[in-house]
Amino acid sequence: MTSSNNTILVTGGAGYIGSHACKALAHAGFEPVAYDNLVYGHRWAVRWGPLEVGDIGDRARLDAVIDQYRPAAVMHFAAYAYVGESVLDPGKYYRNNVAGTLTLLEAMRDHAIGLLVFSSTCATYGEPQHIPINEEHPQNPINPYGASKLMIERMLADFSNAHGLRWIALRYFNAAGADPDGEIGERHDPETHLIPLVLDAAAGTRPAITVYGDDYDTPDGSCIRDYIHVSDLADAHVLALRSLQTDGPSAVYNLGNGQGFSVRDIITLAHEITGREIPIVLGPRRNGDPPRLIANSTRVKQALGWQPCFASLERILESAWQWHQQDARMSTSQ
Ligand SMILES: NC(=O)c1ccc[n+]([C@@H]2O[C@H](COP(=O)([O-])OP(=O)(O)OC[C@H]3O[C@@H](n4cnc5c(N)ncnc54)[C@H](O)[C@@H]3O)[C@@H](O)[C@H]2O)c1
Repeated sequence: MTSSNNTILVTGGAGYIGSHACKALAHAGFEPVAYDNLVYGHRWAVRWGPLEVGDIGDRARLDAVIDQYRPAAVMHFAAYAYVGESVLDPGKYYRNNVAGTLTLLEAMRDHAIGLLVFSSTCATYGEPQHIPINEEHPQNPINPYGASKLMIERMLADFSNAHGLRWIALRYFNAAGADPDGEIGERHDPETHLIPLVLDAAAGTRPAITVYGDDYDTPDGSCIRDYIHVSDLADAHVLALRSLQTDGPSAVYNLGNGQGFSVRDIITLAHEITGREIPIVLGPRRNGDPPRLIANSTRVKQALGWQPCFASLERILESAWQWHQQDARMSTSQ
C-alpha cells in the first residue's frame, strides 16, 4: 500500500538541517512530522508540524507513529555526526546510525513506505584523490562516522533490490548559515562547526578561534572547505522527494557550492560582517583533515534542477550572524 497523503516523516526533524527541511516541506505543501529523540534536537526548532519524540532504534515507537500518520515518504536526518567522537567511540556510531537506520528501513518495508531521502556526507569519500569531488570519486571513509554513512548507502541499494525501496542519498559538504527569516538556526552542543565557533569568538562567548594547521598547501596555509547554506540543502530535499514521487530514479547527489573557502577566509569575512575582533589561536593539524574538500554538484543541478539561492559566503555568514545574535537573546531569556 502506498500512501497518497502529503505527510512526510522527518527523522532528526528537531535538529539543525532537519528543522530547516521541515520548513521547506511545509512551504512546498507537505506536512512534516518530526521524529526525534531530542538527544541533540530542540523542541523550539519544530514549528511546521507535530513533534513525535522517539528513537529510530525503537521499533514499537516507530510502528505507532507510522500507524498514526501513514507517511508517504521518509526524510532521514537522525544520526550522530561528531567525527572525532566516532573515532573514540565507534560502537556508538554504528549502533545509532547503522543499526538505527536498519530498524527504520525494516519498519518502512513492513508499512510499505517506499520512498526515502537520506542525509549522507562528503565524509564517505575520505581523502580526496581529485578536486572537485564528483559522485564517481572512490568512497574510502577514514573515520567511523563516514563509514557508518557509507554502510547506510549500501543498505539502501540492497533494500532497493530486495524490496523496491526508492531512495536518494544527498552527500552534503559543510552545512552552514541559518533560515533567512530568522525562525530557526544552528545550535549544536557541543559545537564543532567552524562558522558558529568563529561567531562565538566574535561575540566574546569563546575566547578565541583555533586554526588547526597553518602550513597546508593552500594559499594562506589553512584548510579549505565548501560551505552550503542550510536552506539550499533543505530545498534540495524537497526536489529529491518530488523526483521520487514522480518516478525519478534512486540516486546519489553531492551538495556543495563548488567553491572553497579557507578557515582564514571565514574569519576575515566574519570580522567584516560582525565588526568585531576575532582572536585567533594556532593549533596543530588534526588527523584526517584534508587540505581541500570541494564539491562538484553538477549532477544534482542537471537531474533535479537544484540551484542554490544563498551561494555567496557573505549570505551564509550574514544569516548565521543574524541567528547567532537572536539565539543568544533566546538563550538568556529562557
Ligand atoms: N551539519 C553538517 O554539516 C552535515 C554534513 C553532512 C551530513 N550531515 C548529516 O545531516 C544530518 C543532520 O545533521 P545536523 O547537523 O542537522 O545534526 P543535528 O545533531 O542537529 O540533527 C540530528 C538530529 O537527529 C536526532 N537523533 C540522533 N539520533 C537519533 C535517534 N537514534 N533517534 C531519533 N533522533 C535522533 C538528534 O536529536 C538531532 O535532533 C545527520 O545525519 C548528519 O550526519 C550533516
